[in-house]
Amino acid sequence: MTDTRRALLTALEDGPVAGPELADRLGVSRAAVWKQVESLREAGWGIESIDDGYRVTDVPEFGGAAIEFGLDAPFDVEYHDSIGSTNERARELASEGREDVAVVADEQTAGRGRLDRGWTGPAGGIYSSLLLRPDVPPAHAPVYTLAAAVAVTRAAREVGIDASIKWPNDVLVGQSGERGGKKLCGILTEMEGEADRVAWLIVGIGINANVHAEVLPEGATSLQEERGEPVDRRVFTQRLLETFDELRADPDSILDAWREHAATLGQRVRVDTPGGEVVGEAVDVEFPGALIVETDDGERERVTAGDCEH
Ligand code: BTN
Repeated sequence: MTDTRRALLTALEDGPVAGPELADRLGVSRAAVWKQVESLREAGWGIESIDDGYRVTDVPEFGGAAIEFGLDAPFDVEYHDSIGSTNERARELASEGREDVAVVADEQTAGRGRLDRGWTGPAGGIYSSLLLRPDVPPAHAPVYTLAAAVAVTRAAREVGIDASIKWPNDVLVGQSGERGGKKLCGILTEMEGEADRVAWLIVGIGINANVHAEVLPEGATSLQEERGEPVDRRVFTQRLLETFDELRADPDSILDAWREHAATLGQRVRVDTPGGEVVGEAVDVEFPGALIVETDDGERERVTAGDCEH
């Protein structure tokens, strides 16, 4: 998005603004304002020109400018209709020194999942990667994954979906019944840093949004499938970014928020960890994201990584 387009849309966020005032605020001619308005209209925006000036009447359902319009979080949104992997693109931006960018795509053709798996990314999804530079040691990184899972779960609940989190970072729909435990979202966090400080962190969030379940892997579901109608991906993404931003500003709140939305706590779990299998009851989560499992012999095991089944 050009700086002028961004400035124009920011100016229009709070209601009508007269053409001459817009030209003044943007430091461009009135003809240039008009040209921008025309190109936004061509891109699907409703912009009315009435007595008191230009007013936004309709925002496209998805896209970078649409997500940024009215967004109450300090992310620049870089949007792609189709991309290999938003995490890969975020890595490029990291190497250019960028931060607080949300790379968002409608479709991914080479999406990456955890444990070297792929991630199916048909059109209609919300595939996003948040590029962050938190001033924390690398050991704290997992808490940002938890924050993303909470943010997705809250946004899903706001559109009427009974979502909850399976440790460490899957968002599921329903905990029991016919639709029990179907995967709605997966998160892949990647990081570069030194011993004591993170250089960058990329939180990659794959949400099956307006996608038919038939094109998804077995055991997966989508927002559209669960609601019986598509979701407004612009609003969903805004809620997600805003909640994530609130949580990262107050890392102490993240664990409590995670516990509140967890499907895993209180369940009998089997966790496949790099050091072997841990079986027992999941009783808690500890900073920065370790699962505490009470095993059958009464020991409390602290699990920091692995695949969890319950
Ligand atoms: C998982 O295995 O559950 C994690 C899947 C993460 C997928 C997302 S989609 C957006 C971002 N870009 C990628 O290539 N992967 C993540």
